[in-house]
Amino acid sequence: MLDIHIEEHDIDRQLRADVALGLAAEPKWLPPKWFYDARGSELFEEITRLPEYYPTRAERAILTERAAEIALLTEAKTLVELGSGSSEKTRLLLDAFQRRGTLGAFVPLDVSRTALAEAVAALTADYPELSVRGVVGDMIDDLRHLPDGDNRVVAFLGGTIGNLVPSERAMFLSALRAVLGEGEWLLVGTDLVKDPAVLVPAYDDAAGVTAAFNHNVLHVVNQRLDADFDVDAFAHVAVWDPAQEWIEMRLRATTAQRVHVKALDLTVEFAAGEDLRTEISAKFRREGVEAELAASGFALRHWWTDPQGLFAVSLAQAVTV
Ligand code: AVJ
Repeated sequence: MLDIHIEEHDIDRQLRADVALGLAAEPKWLPPKWFYDARGSELFEEITRLPEYYPTRAERAILTERAAEIALLTEAKTLVELGSGSSEKTRLLLDAFQRRGTLGAFVPLDVSRTALAEAVAALTADYPELSVRGVVGDMIDDLRHLPDGDNRVVAFLGGTIGNLVPSERAMFLSALRAVLGEGEWLLVGTDLVKDPAVLVPAYDDAAGVTAAFNHNVLHVVNQRLDADFDVDAFAHVAVWDPAQEWIEMRLRATTAQRVHVKALDLTVEFAAGEDLRTEISAKFRREGVEAELAASGFALRHWWTDPQGLFAVSLAQAVTV
């Protein structure tokens, strides 16, 4: 079953607003959520299999090791997954929760209706005893549409929280805390600060898959807003910002460009070498995660990393401050 809270025309309106705002800004930017059309989601799946892209494997190792413990600690009745995407890691949790015998419902929430419909169909077939209810919506605006329940575990995996800047993370965590009751749980995956020699190749792989993923946002704007970005005239750039401790992906105009976005009746100039910022992917330390959680009413109960210390999964509990 799917609950739809975002319709295609809302998405279209958001895209128009983001493109109009981002391309008029200095520096220019586009939000990373526009990477994920069908092709972009496929490219991301391909990224997760790259030798350089360690986060998916590291998080999977943690969840494989800890799923039973998470089930024991939380005794979850409902698992909510934000930005569910492919449900492979979710299955590790679902299996553990089911073995524990407490789980009755799974609620995946995603902006992509097609990805969600597929996941819901597959999970409904594979977990017949479970009530599976997909929510198509925005991670922040539609949190209030999550079904009530007690002892919910909200999983936000993959390190996607790192795509938000600190002020957005604070808004997100507070909005989530507001819909949870005391004692309910947040399970969040965060990539960790490490040597840039490891970080940068994860966002600039030898096979060029991340470059194609980055370029895909221009295809999305070309298709959906009838724009004429010359995709090949932009170079993929991944830089580590040591002060902010985040990776920034950019598309750099290799020559001066003039781009028309017909649907917006907009013309945009790029100077040679000018960057369009497309994503930040923040990397974390334990103290920072713990402090951000605490500031929004979550107490960090457990912090688990993979053996190499590349990635962390935190289990936090909603508390009253
Ligand atoms: C799925 C958002 C966590 O930031 O690492 C992968 C997306 N971008 N390669 C990340 C991504 C470039 C990924 N997240």
